[in-house]
This record gives sequence, structure tokens and C-alpha cells, in this order.
Amino acid sequence: MIKSKQRVADHGEVFTPEWLVDAMLDLVKSETERIDSRFLEPACGSGNFLVKVLQRKLAAVELKYGQSDFEKRHYALLGVMCTYGIELLADNIAECRANMLEVLADYLNVNTSDEVYHAAAYVLSQNLIHGDALSMRTATGEAITFAEWGYLGKGKFQRRDFRLDMLTQMSAISGEGTLFAQMGKHEIFVPEKSYPPMTMRDLAGLQESQTQSSSSTIPATFI
Ligand SMILES: C[S@@+](CC[C@H](N)C(=O)[O-])C[C@H]1O[C@@H](n2cnc3c(N)ncnc32)[C@H](O)[C@@H]1O
Repeated sequence: MIKSKQRVADHGEVFTPEWLVDAMLDLVKSETERIDSRFLEPACGSGNFLVKVLQRKLAAVELKYGQSDFEKRHYALLGVMCTYGIELLADNIAECRANMLEVLADYLNVNTSDEVYHAAAYVLSQNLIHGDALSMRTATGEAITFAEWGYLGKGKFQRRDFRLDMLTQMSAISGEGTLFAQMGKHEIFVPEKSYPPMTMRDLAGLQESQTQSSSSTIPATFI
């Protein structure tokens, strides 16, 4: 449950045992079994919660789309797209990305030669953030933004980026009795960036160019 006493003292790093993760996720069982429900773990460690969430989403993919390879691959990627994490320590976030990718690769029975593998690696590099959940800043000091992914069907995904500090103000701003209560969320929460629809191949290409240009991002092989 711990890596070292020093890390427990410095960062409160105590990992949650599997039975407790399962029991906690059962409290929101129906959400964990919905492919497009979004989960954010703000102190995700190596992914004890996120891995289980992804496994439950993939079980839902199998039930609904197990008969069609095309749908199965795209909805499995959507499951990855709907899991988010923040982690302070570099080794933990790298492990978390690797663990999540391994779960997807095992489920789809793919390896590094498959574009869904690279597309998922890219998504994980965007969704699992090395940063501080309290200051809402990345390890390099930028404001944390999260990608809101959606599946448009026919192999196309959409992406819009939102700042975490804006999203966390949502309940305060749109709550009953506030000045903004009558406004639609789309009027208050404007994305930082919107992208044209992207295919799995487009996402895989982004991962490949990312690996070529930076050594700090997710490597193409780490299983
Ligand atoms: C108690 S552990 C839990 C890890 C994981 N959620 C689990 O249940 O196994 C807390 C984790 O949060 C990380 N952490 C501590 N402060 C943080 C912060 N301000 N922002 C993001 N992560 C943080 C630690 O490095 C550690 O991995």
C-alpha cells in the first residue's frame, strides 16, 4: 500500500486496496458501467480507481458492442477518453498512463502496431495530467485544462478543452439563486479551444508526433 515512509510523509501517498476501490465504485455502480460517464481522480496515484473504472466501462463496451470490431474499438477508446486524473508525482502519473493503456490493449488484444494503441496513448497523455490538483496547475506551471471528448459516430471524435478552474466554479455560478442561474451552461463555460472532428488515425498521428518531439510524453512502448 506504500512505496516509502518518506513519500507517505511528503505526499500522503497510501494506495487504496482493491476491495475498497470496488466497494467505493459500487456506490456509483450505474455510472461506472456507462461508457461515456466522466470520472476525474484528482490524486490518482498509479490509477487504482481509474483502472477499475476503465475495466467496468470496457465490460459495458463488450456487452453493447462486442459483436462489431469497429464499434468495439471506438467505444473502448471513448471509455478511455472519459477517464481523467491528476497526479503530483512524475513516476505515479507515468505508471497510471501505462496501467490504463495495458488494460485497453489487453481488452482489444492489440499491441504497439495498432493505431488504437497510439490513439489511446495520446488520449491518456492529455487526460492524465502531471500536476497539482490544489493549485490546478500542471507540473510546468500552466493552468490545467481538460479535454471534453465525444463520439460523433462513424469513426469521428470531437474535442473541446476547458480550464479546470472554470469547471470547478460551475456549481457556484449556475446554482439556484445566483446571478447566472438563468443562463445556459454553454453561455458561462466557453471552451478554451475547439477542434475539428478527429479519427482514431488522426489521434494516433498526434501521439507519434508527440513522441518524436518530446521525451517527457508517453512513450510508444511501455507494456
Ligand atoms: C493517498 S494516495 C492515493 C492514490 C490513489 N488515488 C489510490 O487510491 O490508490 C494520494 C496521491 O495523491 C498524490 N498527491 C498528493 N498531493 C497532490 C496534489 N496536490 N495534486 C495531485 N496529486 C497529489 C500523491 O502523490 C499520491 O499519489
